[in-house]
Amino acid sequence: MFAQDSVALVTGAATGIGLETALAFARAGCHVVLADRDSGRGEQAAAQVRALGRRALFVPADVADPAQVERLHQEIATTFGRLDAACNNAGIEGELAPTADCTLENFDRVISVNLRGLFLCLREQLRMMRDQGSGAIVNMASVAGLVGFAGLPAYCASKGGVIQLTRAAALEYAERGIRLNAVCPGAIKTEMIDRITHEDPATEKQFAALHPMNRMGTVAEVANTVVWLCSPLAGFVTGQALAVDGGMVAR
Ligand SMILES: NC(=O)c1ccc[n+]([C@@H]2O[C@H](COP(=O)([O-])OP(=O)(O)OC[C@H]3O[C@@H](n4cnc5c(N)ncnc54)[C@H](O)[C@@H]3O)[C@@H](O)[C@H]2O)c1
Repeated sequence: MFAQDSVALVTGAATGIGLETALAFARAGCHVVLADRDSGRGEQAAAQVRALGRRALFVPADVADPAQVERLHQEIATTFGRLDAACNNAGIEGELAPTADCTLENFDRVISVNLRGLFLCLREQLRMMRDQGSGAIVNMASVAGLVGFAGLPAYCASKGGVIQLTRAAALEYAERGIRLNAVCPGAIKTEMIDRITHEDPATEKQFAALHPMNRMGTVAEVANTVVWLCSPLAGFVTGQALAVDGGMVAR
């Protein structure tokens, strides 16, 4: 699916959607760079990639920190000398509270990771790919970037921003061999969702019922979409915000 020795980067790769995406890139034949602020689980994730027979580099990095983001991309250039695919996946949900009760600290934190941090990564990736004249990037948005969710104002604002950032950059680089798309998952069973539902069966059932398919999605369903979008199979697809949501936003 990918050219030999293609290199893919996944941020927030220590667990959840990011981990599964790193493994899916490896299964599709890519060497994988994994970045996360959790070093212990990040190294374990890299070992899982190596077990699939691909090269893996784990780089501890907080995407909200410009210096760490710059160092991450420098390490990719030094180690591999190229970057063919990137999935900017690192994100946080922040605190659940209606807008009038959303603290400035919570708002700033969510924006600094989900939107500003993603921008910092995206800018470095575009500089590398611009010099190569090729590459594909998937930014992890959410259905919360397409429709509103009460109690998550900062999260919704950040994910809406990710979609618009993706569209703007997609137009800028469309003629230069670089494709950019956003993926918008519905509720996917990960630690993030478990923190919100507290794994309470009644709450999980309510979350499932938000989707016409009446279930939550799996990490594999998102990961496979990301890898497809980054692959040559999606060669004419750019600037899209693709919902992976069991039909939620089709209602
Ligand atoms: N799970 C869902 O239902 C769902 C739905 C829509 C969108 N998303 C998005 O998908 C992405 C992954 O979600 P998930 O459910 O796997 O989350 P998760 O909380 O299970 O995992 C997130 C990973 O990102 C890492 N991370 C968080 N902040 C970071 C930072 N500042 N720098 C580097 N790494 C950081 C964490 O250490 C963790 O390994 C997020 O952007 C999230 O907003 C998730």
